[in-house]
Amino acid sequence: MHNLRTVKQEMIEFPEHLLKEVGRQMAKFPDGKQKSAVLSILHIAQAHFGYLSEPVMDYVARLLHILPIEVYEVATFYSMFDTQAVGKVKLEVCRTGPCMIEGSEKIIAYIELKLGIKVGQTTPDGLFSLKTVECLGACGYAPMLQAGNQYHEHLTEEKVDSLLATYRENSESNYWGLKNHGS
Ligand code: FES
Repeated sequence: MHNLRTVKQEMIEFPEHLLKEVGRQMAKFPDGKQKSAVLSILHIAQAHFGYLSEPVMDYVARLLHILPIEVYEVATFYSMFDTQAVGKVKLEVCRTGPCMIEGSEKIIAYIELKLGIKVGQTTPDGLFSLKTVECLGACGYAPMLQAGNQYHEHLTEEKVDSLLATYRENSESNYWGLKNHGS
């Protein structure tokens, strides 16, 4: 899985410019309340390291002077964070009520069929990961999915074919967003 955004364990340290950003995030909170910056720092960490491995979460805990468990709790609560390596393009299909009524189950099954993987898995070439998530606030455009910074709405099987083809054709592009934080 050469495209998986894995991280070398010995390289778990932010470069200088990201350490400055971490400092800026922590400075937004009063003394003693720096742990409130955990969400923003986890976003930076995920964008830089690819996913939040245990060593990465431990590193974030050390930066914030909090217990690792406090970081694990946040990282595992929000679906936007990945605690395992994911593919280059993460397809997050909404499965909440309105999207379900409009056919999200069918869309999920179709993506599984097209990619040959199940929800929670990554394609062997490391390009696509498939996840399901709760409401992404685009209920009026159901069914929908998020891939990186992009929302894909009113999904049909034809639209899925088209977006998979587009991502395959542009597999060298950066779909993770937060480009300023990228490695
Ligand atoms: S229910 Fe799918 S975006 Fe809200």
